[in-house]
This record gives sequence, structure tokens and C-alpha cells, in this order.
Amino acid sequence: MRISETQIEQIRTSADIVDVISNSVQLRKRGNNYIGLCPFHSEKTPSFTVSQDKQIFHCFGCHAGGNVFKFLMEYKKISFVESVQEIAADLGITIEYENQRSEAEQSETEILFDINTSVAKFFSDNLLKEEEGNIARKYFEDRKIKPQTLRAFGLGYCPDHWDSTVNFLNKNNIALEKALELGVIGKSEKGKLYDKFSGRMIFPIFSPNGRVIGFGGRIFDSREGAAKYLNSPESKVYHKGRTLYGLSHGKDEIRRQDLAIVVEGYMDLISLHQHGIKNVVAVSGTAFTDEQVQLLSRYTKNTVLLFDADTAGVKASMRSIEILLKQNMNIKIATLPRGEDPDSYVQKNGSDAFLDIIARAVNFLEYRTAIFEEQGYFNDAAKSAEAIRELVKPVALLNDELKRSFLLKSIAEKFGLREKLLEAELEKAIAGTNKFAVQEQNQKEKIQQKEIAEAVEAKMLPAEFRNEQEIIILLFEGHEQITRYLLDHVNPDEFQIPYHKTLAQLVYDALINDEPLEISRLLEKIKDEKLQEYLLEITFEKYLISDLWDQRKPENKEKRFLKYASDLIKSFKLYHLEKEIAENHSLLEKAEDEEAALELMKKGNLLHSKKKEIEKGNY
Ligand code: UTP
Ligand code: MN
Repeated sequence: MRISETQIEQIRTSADIVDVISNSVQLRKRGNNYIGLCPFHSEKTPSFTVSQDKQIFHCFGCHAGGNVFKFLMEYKKISFVESVQEIAADLGITIEYENQRSEAEQSETEILFDINTSVAKFFSDNLLKEEEGNIARKYFEDRKIKPQTLRAFGLGYCPDHWDSTVNFLNKNNIALEKALELGVIGKSEKGKLYDKFSGRMIFPIFSPNGRVIGFGGRIFDSREGAAKYLNSPESKVYHKGRTLYGLSHGKDEIRRQDLAIVVEGYMDLISLHQHGIKNVVAVSGTAFTDEQVQLLSRYTKNTVLLFDADTAGVKASMRSIEILLKQNMNIKIATLPRGEDPDSYVQKNGSDAFLDIIARAVNFLEYRTAIFEEQGYFNDAAKSAEAIRELVKPVALLNDELKRSFLLKSIAEKFGLREKLLEAELEKAIAGTNKFAVQEQNQKEKIQQKEIAEAVEAKMLPAEFRNEQEIIILLFEGHEQITRYLLDHVNPDEFQIPYHKTLAQLVYDALINDEPLEISRLLEKIKDEKLQEYLLEITFEKYLISDLWDQRKPENKEKRFLKYASDLIKSFKLYHLEKEIAENHSLLEKAEDEEAALELMKKGNLLHSKKKEIEKGNY
């Protein structure tokens, strides 16, 4: 007998841990928490603590701890299922049991991931091994895609029948309704199941962690009325607006080079990889979304946009530019010769020529000016004024005052205009953009100003351990906005302490999978007991401190959290940078030849200017 994850969730959130524990332990309120004598070891002063907000308990004496189910399991020495049953009975919730064993064992999303993985394997086998895949193998061969690339990107082929996928699912006892949900098969009006991707080349789409979340399927030749690429529909595991194709393959290189090249198509990205250019993501033919930018900014703030020179490409890049600017990304735009896309260009001209194009990328003002020039805007006084107004508009989107005035200056110089005139335009543009967003920006700037004063203080903390720990504690506050902010700025891999890496990854996965972020739920996902204990320990320790905060100024909690989070990120970044600077310095002392020394000096300067940026609040 199994209970579904959703039902467990429902029972857990309906129960109140304080009520449940109060049936066995005498509790007393202390600040935000309840304390009592620990039922799991004998003690004279209470170190057993229960948090009602967080729905968890912890004993500072014997380190027992967990959520409401864990309490009953330990207290009554019963199994997990029994504890769920007992609480359900108390609450009057009737449990509906699931009969399929294997399904209940996994979470809903795990099942979907597994189906995607199996189906991806099926497609890939068809391409690489089956007779039927000849036609697709030939297609990729003609497009100069090597077998190892086919494997690296898990490319596949869906045979040109209406039911190969359906048969595969049936043969492997895979739940058809789940496959329908994922959109690998469809259902006709008469109720007949059919393959969604029949006769198409398959491009699996991966999560940042490399799990298959959906598919893109390309037709061989353009057919009347059929889309060139068919993509999986939105599902519990695939959110198009939150996905960047190729991120899992390119993220390490993106971080290493601190630069992401943004292309449009699946084939562009794959082809570039094959030519050794791996710091690439693809937006799959649409403009960037805010969420995609947030995702990308976890790896780098620097992007080069590379869109087709056709009008659709220009339009898409304009929209993307705005979204990127709003989020303070540094952008440059590279242009390919007309009629080329990154795939065709790199195949024809090789990687050096391609990298040349990237090196010649221009900032968005130069890019837009060139387009206006091409369209003859500057030959006509009225049109010219319009063009200049248009050029000022995106400047208003920038959060950074310095960057804004720098760009205004460069427009003024370029067109021989007075800066004051442009400032007036800018004011108008700012008034025209979303007022709330601007207010938010100003507020953010103010917060960052204050931080500068506090940076000195922050540096006095024993940075490495404490700072990381604080970030982890905050991640488990269950506050989505803060969690997003933190994970936008710090990667789970960046933590030095393995425990912290694991914990940050856990929260990150929950966040991208849209799962609830409560610690009482996340705790259940931690298999390592020691790690559970550690998390509880630091959470409750923090709680004692935050009690004091909350009592002082409860109405300001939200704001203070955000400010606190950004302070933490700042000292985290500074700490890492200083370490790098010190390492670089000691290498420089040891450097033997002049050339190497020069390189290290250059790097040192770069690190120092990065540090300055962070100190100014740009991170
Ligand atoms: P393109 O039409 O530029 O195709 O679409 P492409 O990537 O160059 O593909 P090849 O080289 O012809 O094989 C760019 C991207 O837009 C999305 C896909 O992600 C594609 O890679 N797209 C395009 C769709 O999702 N649906 C379509 O019908 C067309
Ligand atoms: Mn192409």
C-alpha cells in the first residue's frame, strides 16, 4: 500500500507540529519557538525546540530532529507510512492508496523524468542502431554532424509510422497518460493514441543539470502546413520560458570564459560545439524571457547575441536586448553575413573566423545606430530625431547610473548633441517605462550604497565558513524571492563546503521544478542523516537570532531580508575574489620568465577591477 506524494504533502501541510508534539511533550513558548524537555534523551534544562513557522523540531542536546512525521516515527517507533496514517486519522483525512508500487515510490516529477529518459533512449537507438534510422543518419551526415556529436547531444529519430512511440511505451509498461502529459504521444478525437514526433529528427532538451525535460523534432524537408520544428508542450518538467537549450552542455565553459554566446537554433549550438566553441546557449527562435536571463546570469553576466541578419532576427534581438539590459547584463551584438546562420558560417569558415565575428561584436548603441543608418534615418532631420529618441530609450532600462551616463555621453559625442538635451530625453523615457520598475531600481541602488559603508565590517567576519553558512540558512527560509535572488548570484558548485553544495543544489532543484520550498518538506529529501542534523542545527541557531530581529521591527522583515541577502552575496563574491588575487600574487612572485609575469600582472589588474566593481555593488 502506497500513499502518493501529493497526499503526503497534503497531510503534512494540514498538520501542525506544535499540536502533534504537545500531545506528548509539555511545550512552552519562547520567542518564535516552543521549547520543552527532550523526549529522546534525559535532560534537566530544555534544549528541545519546535518551530511552528517552519514546522520542524530539533534538540540541541541529542541532535534529534525533523518534521512532524519524523517526530512520530521516533517517538512511537513506527514507520514513515504509519506516522502519515496516524496524522491523517487525527486530522480526519481519508487516504486514497495507490496500487502501482513503483510509481508511488517515486515522486511525480521523477516519473516524468524517467519516461523522458527512456523515450530519449528509444529515439537515439533508432538513429544510431536501427535500419529505419538510415535516412536520419544520412541527414546528419550531410549536415556534417559527427557520430560523437549525435551521442553527446542525445540526438535521435522517431520512425515514420504513427505508432512506434506508442508501441515502445506499451512494450515497456510506461504509463500512457503520463506520456500524453509530456506530449511525446497524442490522442485523436476518436481516442486513438499516436506518435507526436513521427518522421522527425529528435533534439532532446535538457535541464541545467542534464536531465531530459522535453524534445524538439525537426522535419526532413519543409512540408506544407507542418512546422519545421515541433517542440514538447509545457509540462511539469518543461517550461519553455525557463529553459535555455544547451546550457547543461555549455555551463562550465560559460563560467570559465565568463561569457555566453547566444544563438537561435538547436543546430547552431550543436555545430558550434563540434567546432570546439562551447560557451553557447540557444534561445530556440524566440526572444529571451526574464527567467531565461535570470538562469543565464547565474553563470555569467556577459553575453554576445548572435542572431540572423534577417528582419525576424533583428526584431528578436531588439526584444532580447531590452530584457537583458533590464537585468543588468552586459551585452554585445555580433552580426553574420546576410543569409548565414552560426551553423552554416562555422561549417564554411571554421572556428577562427567565427571567433573573429564574436570579437567584433558591438554594443547595443552601435548596433542600433547601424540599423538606423542602413534604413536611412539620419538623412532626414525629423527621422533623425526619432532615431535618437529610440536610441535613448533602452538606456533608461539600465539600473546602473554610471553606465547610463557613459552611454549618454557616447550618443552625444556620436551625433554632436548636447548631453543636457539627451538627459531630458532620458528623463522622459524613464517616466515612460514602468514606474514601479524604476522605483525598484532606485531602491536597489540605495541598498547598494549602504552596503559600501558596511563592506568594511563584512570583511572582518571569518568569511569562508560563516558566510557560506549564512547563505544556506537563508536559502532554507522558504522565501521564494530571496531564494531566487541568492541562486541567481551563487551557484551551488561555488560553495566550498560539500555539505553546502548539496544543500544548495537541493533548493535549486526544487526552485527550478516549481516545488514548494519549505524546509519541513525539503528535509525529507535529504538521505544523509548527518546532513539533516547539520541543517537543523544551523537553522535553529539562526532562529534564535532572527527572533530578536523580528521582535524589534516586524514590519520591515521583507526588506531587511533582501538587504541581508545582498550583503551576503557581496562578501561571498569578495572573499572568493580576494582568494584568487592572493593566489595570482603568489604565482607572480614565483614567475620565472617575463612573459608569464606580464600575463599574471594583467590578470591581477583584471581581478582588481572586478573587485572594485563588486565593491561598488555590481555583481
Ligand atoms: P531556424 O528556422 O533558424 O532553424 O529556427 P535552424 O535552427 O537554423 O535549423 P536548421 O538549421 O534549419 O535545421 C531557429 C530555431 O527556432 C526554433 C527552433 O528552436 C530552431 O532551432 N523553431 C524554428 C521552432 O521552435 N519551430 C519552428 O517551426 C521553427
Ligand atoms: Mn540553420
